Amino acid sequence: MLIRDSKSLPIVPSGEITSRDAYLERRAFLRALGGAGAAGAALALGVAGCRQEATAGVPEDTITDRDDATRYNNFYEFGLGKEDPSRYAHQMRTSPWSVQIEGEVARPATVAIEDLLSHHQPEERVYRLRCVEAWSMVIPWLGIPLGDVLARFEPTSRAKFVEFETLYAPEQMPGTRRAVLDWPYREGLRIDEAMHPLTLLAVGMYGDPLPNQNGAPLRLVVPWKYGFKSIKSIVRIRLREDQPETAWNQAQPREYGFYANVNPEVDHPRWSQRRERRIGEFRRRETLPFNGYAEQVASLYTGMDLAKHF
Ligand code: MTE
Repeated sequence: MLIRDSKSLPIVPSGEITSRDAYLERRAFLRALGGAGAAGAALALGVAGCRQEATAGVPEDTITDRDDATRYNNFYEFGLGKEDPSRYAHQMRTSPWSVQIEGEVARPATVAIEDLLSHHQPEERVYRLRCVEAWSMVIPWLGIPLGDVLARFEPTSRAKFVEFETLYAPEQMPGTRRAVLDWPYREGLRIDEAMHPLTLLAVGMYGDPLPNQNGAPLRLVVPWKYGFKSIKSIVRIRLREDQPETAWNQAQPREYGFYANVNPEVDHPRWSQRRERRIGEFRRRETLPFNGYAEQVASLYTGMDLAKHF
């Protein structure tokens, strides 16, 4: 399934004009992921224009330059500087790679990434990414809805939350030699958030496999939450009855909540969240509730005090 651009799903095709070589390369990549059918559809859109329909009062979203998206990163396992991940993440071995799926599932398993992906067709989705640090980008991801993947392992009725864990390999990850966080990097979602159709397990971006610095070979993308929820280089997915501890919340509970829904009304203790710097643009933009995806996801939080559960 390829979701098209619409007001309710701000997803636009990637790329403008695709060269024949790039086209063939992407096609081989998407086929290798098991999605030849989806690949055809994605590529048909790949040669269309890349501008999104403007939504009322909101400036258009333009896809962020690929160099910016792959050189300005947060991946603390490789250092705190924005360019450290692109400099050092090549040291991470991403093949072979397997993912352990455990906890409250009827069919727990450790699955090689090729097997995990072979059951699904990757989709192209263009999402805004809003970092808690008040910068943002617009990225064309390739991925699979997380809910489709989880369903195959049959979550039990006790599965209320999903916990994710990043690879922890100090010899490959120079940043983990400092106790910036309690490694491994861990994140979590409520089960309904995990099953929401916008929640993606990404395997590629800009029509290519994920670069290591962006979380190869498999990362989460939750577009209505601050970027730190979008955990990279996942090796473990655990379904649980209780809410998991998450790395940033553990480190600074007053600054980084479990929910981390993008919310211009709730400031970070050290800065405002009302506006954001879109990488590649000069003027700051207004930050939108749920990063512009309120129509799709606000109902998940009906009755919740979002200032308390930030
Ligand atoms: N995942 C891991 N394992 N380690 C990290 O430091 N940083 C997070 C998130 N996922 C991070 C992570 C933060 S703060 C953001 S904003 C996004 O990744 C950045 O993703 P990008 O570098 O692909 O833009």
